[in-house]
Amino acid sequence: MSIVITDIGELVTNTGHGRDRLGIVRDAAVVVEDGRIAWIGASVRAPDADERIDAGGAAVLPGFVDSHAHLVFAGDRAAEFGARMAGEPYTGGGIRTTVGATRAAGDDELRRATGRLVAEMRRQGTTTVEIKSGYGLDVEHEARSLRIAAEFTEETTFLGAHVVPAEYSDDPWKYVSLVSGPMLNAARPYAKWIDVFVERGAFDEDQARTVLAAGKDAGLGLRLHGNQLGPGPGVRLAVEMGAASVDHCTHLDDGDVDALASTTIACMCGDGGWSSTVATLLPGAEFSTRSPYPDARRLLDAGVTVALATDCNPGSSYTSSMSFCIALAVREMRMTPAEAVWAATAGGARALRRDDVGHLSVGARADLMILDAPSHLHLAYRPGVPLIRTVLHDGVPQ
Ligand code: NIG
Ligand code: FE
Repeated sequence: MSIVITDIGELVTNTGHGRDRLGIVRDAAVVVEDGRIAWIGASVRAPDADERIDAGGAAVLPGFVDSHAHLVFAGDRAAEFGARMAGEPYTGGGIRTTVGATRAAGDDELRRATGRLVAEMRRQGTTTVEIKSGYGLDVEHEARSLRIAAEFTEETTFLGAHVVPAEYSDDPWKYVSLVSGPMLNAARPYAKWIDVFVERGAFDEDQARTVLAAGKDAGLGLRLHGNQLGPGPGVRLAVEMGAASVDHCTHLDDGDVDALASTTIACMCGDGGWSSTVATLLPGAEFSTRSPYPDARRLLDAGVTVALATDCNPGSSYTSSMSFCIALAVREMRMTPAEAVWAATAGGARALRRDDVGHLSVGARADLMILDAPSHLHLAYRPGVPLIRTVLHDGVPQ
């Protein structure tokens, strides 16, 4: 089954460099066949295919790669959000509320809730999503969350080390042993990645190192929540351990920025292309907790690879919209629209160490979106407007 998309006013390929990293091709056409990009060229020279979609001069972009989301949960925390907007601070303590609701939910209820969010994302242009556990926090419920997550994505992340659950609050190291042993064993069949929340009130550096080392030994890739609520060791630990991504990066010192930049340089010196630790920024969390945004400009100017993701979760960032995150990154974090679009597509792919998504070139996965707009600029220029007209996932219109 093949489809040709013609009369694309602006095709974002993400195959360019430097300031032109979006690699824009004008008046283009794309042929997709068997789930892959089969041809890209001038619209006037477009070959025939089984089906034809006329883009009518609109922009076509790679599907969003949302590399950080917590979608397996029950309940909502709207009241907590309301209290925050009335002046209460965000602490992360609300995670335990969602743990209670998630443990109490049946499998089908959780599956439906997760599927609803994945479908909501898909309609908004997200074609690859990472899904974390982290609201089960015991062996049975963490394994269940990952089993359900794996029904929706191959990018599944074991986050048993989200917070110390109430029943272990007197002995956090006992919980670390559980996470690094029996819980990891139960999660392993369904997980590709392991993640730890390194923060005051969650896990300290030694505890995080123990969990990540166990995950690495079990063959999982490493990711880390770090430097979200205050300065801390998260970024440097992620770099030291070769994590694919360190996420949030809101409170950084010069040493953190240098450490991240050094991984980009190591990567460019050529040991396979995947050695860099990506800084994944989650502006939905700062929006929803009314906190200062991360300094994206400082990271980009230092040469750090930056990704944008939603952090979709019921506590700190209940948005599934990558377009919203792009608009925030441009308006509040001084990213250019091109940098933000790249970070939400190719950047997310780097954060997941994927080379088949996040760009449009022959052989890449046919994951793309047609906008109701002539340019990628409109994603930030028209915030809050549903601009995603058509989404193709694996070459199939959704
Ligand atoms: O990424 N920081 C830790 N975890 C989530 C928050 C989860 C919650 O509040 O339920 C985050 O922001
Ligand atoms: Fe998160």
